[in-house]
Amino acid sequence: MLTLGIETSCDETAAALTNGQKVLSSAVTSSVHLHKKYGGVVPEIASRYHVEYIIEVLSRALKDARKSLKQVKLVAVTQGPGLVGALLTGISLAKSVSYSLGLPVIGVNHILAHLYSSFLSERDKPEFPFVGLVVSGGHTALFYCKAVDDFRVLGQTQDDAVGEAYDKVAKLLGLGYPGGPAIEKTALRSKGINRIKFPKSYLGKDSLDFSFSGIKTAVLYYVQKLHNTQHAITNTQIADICYAFQESALDVLVDKAVMAARSTGASRIVVGGGVAANSMLRKKFFDRAEYSSLHLHFPELKYCLDNAAMVGVLGEEMYRLGYRSDLYLSAEPNLEVN
Ligand code: KG4
Ligand code: ZN
Repeated sequence: MLTLGIETSCDETAAALTNGQKVLSSAVTSSVHLHKKYGGVVPEIASRYHVEYIIEVLSRALKDARKSLKQVKLVAVTQGPGLVGALLTGISLAKSVSYSLGLPVIGVNHILAHLYSSFLSERDKPEFPFVGLVVSGGHTALFYCKAVDDFRVLGQTQDDAVGEAYDKVAKLLGLGYPGGPAIEKTALRSKGINRIKFPKSYLGKDSLDFSFSGIKTAVLYYVQKLHNTQHAITNTQIADICYAFQESALDVLVDKAVMAARSTGASRIVVGGGVAANSMLRKKFFDRAEYSSLHLHFPELKYCLDNAAMVGVLGEEMYRLGYRSDLYLSAEPNLEVN
């Protein structure tokens, strides 16, 4: 079923053509360069960028897939969570295409869509049931997924998302935005001798919730102390801070995902979202999986960040299960997942 996926929840403007779990094209453009000087996404700039580029991105997706709009059978669009002005651009396009061509339209949850990025891989597709871990700039959550429409939230962040913590720590270290790739790269320069230790927040022995505000504050205090005792922080110190930050933040993610697998009896863990691109997170997971007999699924790097292929795939799965939206579909910035 040829599906047009549309994604405009934050700073990526994306359109994709999918068929089942096969990606025919995935066009993405990002306003990230415009947000750099502000150290984070500016909603109005993101919205204007979507308005400017959405049609161009749609045309590119159609051209790359060698399809015309008339061949599309279903429109799937991110409904939320996200920035409301940003979401509205994608939703308006989805409704226009749906109305003008008489096509069904379906609104998709952005957080869940991240979990379906791993279904885009040609080989080793996930199978239900699995524990899903979404690690992005806006969300950090664990799910137990029995089917596309049968899942429950096992835990979620009580404050910052892990990607948000990366972005904030990078900002205070002067590494720019987005923080994830910058911290990952800088940490590689550290010798990795763990001279610095930042707290790992587990929120109680059996809790599957997360908290990343403590580690962010610990980094802030550490940096302030360095500023008070020396003229300037050295590059080696910055690299060591990045290394130690990753050690603490990522260990908690792996520990809790493995705990979730144990408590639910799931043998598979599916990871999605921007932070899933992190090589240290992948290494920590694969090292752990080796002796925990867990099967891991990570998306290809190009599908970790926001994209529309994941929206198309989840939209089509939901459509096949009988779910439908209509032209009253509206942006839901705080769309619940449970
Ligand atoms: O999934 P995504 O594109 O957007 C949201 O839905 O939030 O994720 C963006 C987040 C940002 O916080 C960014 O810093 C983080 O993902 N990120 C990374 C890496 N690449 C992107 N975090 C750690 N390591 C990376 N390589
Ligand atoms: Zn996302």
